[in-house]
Parts: sequence; structure tokens; C-alpha cells
Amino acid sequence: MIICMCNAKNCRTVKQVLESRPDVTSPQDIHEAMGCKPKCGRCLPTLAGMIRENRDQQSLNGLIAAD
Ligand code: FES
Repeated sequence: MIICMCNAKNCRTVKQVLESRPDVTSPQDIHEAMGCKPKCGRCLPTLAGMIRENRDQQSLNGLIAAD
């Protein structure tokens, strides 16, 4: 699924960035890691949600691993 229409970036590309770049904490960081810049900004809320989901999943994985 296309996440950023302006830069033709899909969900898979964003997930790869989130998995490989723990330093990415904002939608702007994701764009930078993908080698592009936000244009219209419509994807920014979706990217922010994906960052939150990824952070929550990492926390959950940490708790499961600690058990
Ligand atoms: S959809 Fe991502 S900047 Fe326009």
C-alpha cells in the first residue's frame, strides 16, 4: 500500500526504515531516511501512527523477552 503518494513510498519501505533505524522518531526522519522530503504532508499522520505502532511493538517484545 502506498503511504506517501508524493514520493511513491509504500508501507514496506517505511517498515524497513523503522526496523533498521531505531533513531527515527518523526515522520520527517522517515522521509530523510528514505532520501526524500515531505511535500503535501498528507502522509505525516500515517507515518506518525506507524512510528507509535513500531515503538509499542518494540516495548511489547522487550516485555516478552524479559519474561
Ligand atoms: S503524501 Fe507524503 S508528502 Fe504528500
